[in-house]
Amino acid sequence: DWTSDVFIDATVAELKEKIGSDKVVMGLSGGVDSSVAATLIHKAIGDQLTCVFVDNGLLRKNEFEEVLDSYKHMGLNVIGVDAKQRFYDALAGITEPEAKRKAIGRVFIEVFDDEAHKIDGVKWLGQGTIYPDVIESVSVKGPSATIKSHHNVGGLPDFMKLSVVEPLNTLFKDEVREVGRALEITEKIIGRHPFPGPGLGIRILGDITAEKVNTLQEVDHIFIKGLKDHGLYDDVWQAGAMLLPIQSVGVMGDERTYERVVALRAVGSVDGMTADWIHLPYEFLGKISNEIINRVKGVNRVVYDISSKPPATIEWE
Ligand code: XMP
Repeated sequence: DWTSDVFIDATVAELKEKIGSDKVVMGLSGGVDSSVAATLIHKAIGDQLTCVFVDNGLLRKNEFEEVLDSYKHMGLNVIGVDAKQRFYDALAGITEPEAKRKAIGRVFIEVFDDEAHKIDGVKWLGQGTIYPDVIESVSVKGPSATIKSHHNVGGLPDFMKLSVVEPLNTLFKDEVREVGRALEITEKIIGRHPFPGPGLGIRILGDITAEKVNTLQEVDHIFIKGLKDHGLYDDVWQAGAMLLPIQSVGVMGDERTYERVVALRAVGSVDGMTADWIHLPYEFLGKISNEIINRVKGVNRVVYDISSKPPATIEWE
């Protein structure tokens, strides 16, 4: 029978055997998978593991600082890299979703590779790949690989010449969480909703600017904090806000406004492959809508996404 303790003991022993005295580098995302994978590897080989956490300028409000702090508290040897401007420069003027993903993936690899080169004699690349990622990128080559290029799997550039170590590639998400809890990783990381690698970059429809990121961060923060404050966060599998590339007319006092529209999305799911929109209470939605419109400059309308997957996807891009 599978238990997290048995898994941890077996995996740590296996990692020790496999890695020996080699060095490992690993990118962290702030998500459950990479955090649990890094903790397992760290448990096996300690400071032979160097972690890299990149601020791509597309993270949630305050996320970089908060997550970096959690990692340091966990004893991980982690380098935080502020690469915001590099990403914004590469994304300037790009509107097509897959082109954005490619640009974000490419810059990530460049930034990561710069850091990896600073580590002497690194041999391995740690990855937080979980079983559904493996399945999705291998067997569903049809729709999923072409609809969206998830870049967690196989995105290793030749020039890095590292062997890959993926301690979670037989686990499902709920098992990863169980392992994470057994490893005493903070609930803030373990219980967090999934968040896509390209981050807010695929939630800003149209071109990406620092100003739009800032607007969406504020909207997202009000929504997510609201879910937490109202005890709804754990009833939702994933939630977020989309900044739409349109303006709508509104009225504020005696003034006519012509400002941005945001869409809120909250879904229930098991693995992200299918999803249902969550029936959030009307009172909650009303309160959050008011708060967003009153507090976020440049937004005068909020809509709620009531589409399920399929035929819609969770993200809008
Ligand atoms: P969709 O929008 O395809 O999303 O229904 C399913 C799940 O995958 C996440 N997602 C991504 N994750 N890179 C990632 O790391 C991506 O390019 C990407 N696109 C979507 C999405 O947030 C949801 O959890």
